[in-house]
Amino acid sequence: MATLAMSSGSTSARIISTGAARGSRVVDNDEICTMIDSNDEWIRQRTGITQRHWVAEGETAVTLAADACRQAVERAGMTLDQIDTLILATVSNSQQMPSMAARVAQELGCPSPAVFDISAACAGFCHGVALADSLIRTGTSTHVLVVGTEVLSPYLDMADRGTAFIFSDGAGAVVIGPSEVPAIGPTIWGSDPSHSEVITLDDWESLVDGQERPYLRMEGTKVFRWATTFVAERTRETLEAAGLAPEELDVFIPHQANNRITDSTLRQLKLPEGIVVARDIAQMGNSSAASIPLALDAVLQSGEARSGQKALLMGFGAGLAYAGQVVVLP
Ligand code: UT7
Repeated sequence: MATLAMSSGSTSARIISTGAARGSRVVDNDEICTMIDSNDEWIRQRTGITQRHWVAEGETAVTLAADACRQAVERAGMTLDQIDTLILATVSNSQQMPSMAARVAQELGCPSPAVFDISAACAGFCHGVALADSLIRTGTSTHVLVVGTEVLSPYLDMADRGTAFIFSDGAGAVVIGPSEVPAIGPTIWGSDPSHSEVITLDDWESLVDGQERPYLRMEGTKVFRWATTFVAERTRETLEAAGLAPEELDVFIPHQANNRITDSTLRQLKLPEGIVVARDIAQMGNSSAASIPLALDAVLQSGEARSGQKALLMGFGAGLAYAGQVVVLP
């Protein structure tokens, strides 16, 4: 009896390039405090946020994603017809069908990529990197665009001062392709379903009277505790799985949720003093699935980090879900 042929691909995969797009309206803490009962000092001390980007007229999660993808493909020295797979991570998708990835492919004019969305909130981008890595190593795909994109400002409840100042709008993309040397370490991922209710977007079918759209809701303290205990341990495992000691890591790019979570993880993992730490939250707030690729792009564009360095990515959020991996920077 005939056996099935199996696909086989490159021994390794790597991030080739990055691209970024931020909502063009900059809202600083003083402006947000005209909308909520808070103050600049509290927001800076408790989170590290000084401003956030929101969309302006005409900008959407699709246009931001397309801009970030276009930049990543250009920087890779490639053309859009070389992209065979487009994976998009988002939670700000009000249209279930077609996928947002399909709409971004249309906006870009990609000829015929495989397109699908990932819903893993702030861990979505790292889920996408894990999939791209596997697809390339099995030979299913060759050049994959992974983009995290969010427009969360319309989902903010301005009566909720525990969330309204945090979330933002932007998109970050990477091109991932074959590599002759290892450049994406093992992914450590999972979830805590017992906490599936602590970060939610309201169900469109259960909106209360007078509410026009879903609101983003978060029990911040519970998430904070989980991120600084459980996720910190998984971050340590991610480093170990890549075969690295803390002093061999160059760059730390955690989900941009709160600088105090980042600092706690740095201390627990005893990461070296001189390590580059992404703090894009200061300018950007928390852009969920876009936060890690935007922070990755920012440390490269600013010159803080350089090509060839090893960076630990760790996404965590609604689910509660997490995913992380060590990558070699493009
Ligand atoms: O992206 C998904 C993953 N998300 C995260 O990882 C978020 C994790 N959580 C957090 O980052 C933090 O929990 C927050 C930044 C959301 C909140 O900070 P917190 O230190 O946990 O504040 P809290 O909710 O415990 O509130 C502390 C105090 C309270 O006052 P009292 O009861 O101590 O008098 C709040 O009423 O701060 C008050 N407060 C505020 N004050 C000024 C809460 N929100 C505000 C505010 N401005 N916006």
